Amino acid sequence: MAVQISPSILSADFARLADEAARVENVADWLHVDVMDYHFVPNLTLGLPVVESLLKTTATPVDCHLMIHDPDRWAPDYAEAGAASVTIHAEAAKAAVRTLRAIRAAGARAGLALNPATAVEGYEDLLPEIDMMLVMTVEPGFGGQRFLDIVLPKLARARALIDKHGGEVWLQVDGGVSAETIERCAEAGADVFVAGNAVYGADDPARAVQELRTLAER
Ligand code: DX5
Ligand code: ZN
Repeated sequence: MAVQISPSILSADFARLADEAARVENVADWLHVDVMDYHFVPNLTLGLPVVESLLKTTATPVDCHLMIHDPDRWAPDYAEAGAASVTIHAEAAKAAVRTLRAIRAAGARAGLALNPATAVEGYEDLLPEIDMMLVMTVEPGFGGQRFLDIVLPKLARARALIDKHGGEVWLQVDGGVSAETIERCAEAGADVFVAGNAVYGADDPARAVQELRTLAER
């Protein structure tokens, strides 16, 4: 699978979201939107109304990462609003199969995210229900955190399970992904790379996306 880059607007200027999205349009494959609710993670970002507005201003497909306490209640709404990909956390979902199916039924790609301490092996049976697995390489909640190397073996195990399963499941990595860490993520088998600080902290976000892509493709 070709390398895909998903800049996280968590590191962008929230008062200028349309402009910030435009800075990576035609360069990024996705726009990663981190939804946080003060409950699943100790931070608050934005919700459905802001995602609906953002969807009207950008042609880049939107990749919603729901770090919320009740994804079963809210995830299908993001898919129905037009997000092209909706990812729920394994630790938060109480009815993951139903929710993943509802995301797909609403026309979006269904993603399942695992925190750094969550074992991938417990989720092998869910592979037929998902289009993407997200392996977190920081504890979710904040941008600009240090990449957790200890997760790399799990990333490689996730790749092996996906290959064994044989379906078309993308493997996304999120947290501390930068020019220093992206090659190790690619080597471990990731194919979709989220980057917040490394893109929106750069003087030229579009160039940063291209540089990350080049490193991941090596
Ligand atoms: C963190 C979010 C990430 C965040 C990554 O909980 O899920 O998407 O924006 O930011 P960086 O790339 O700066 O670590
Ligand atoms: Zn994220």
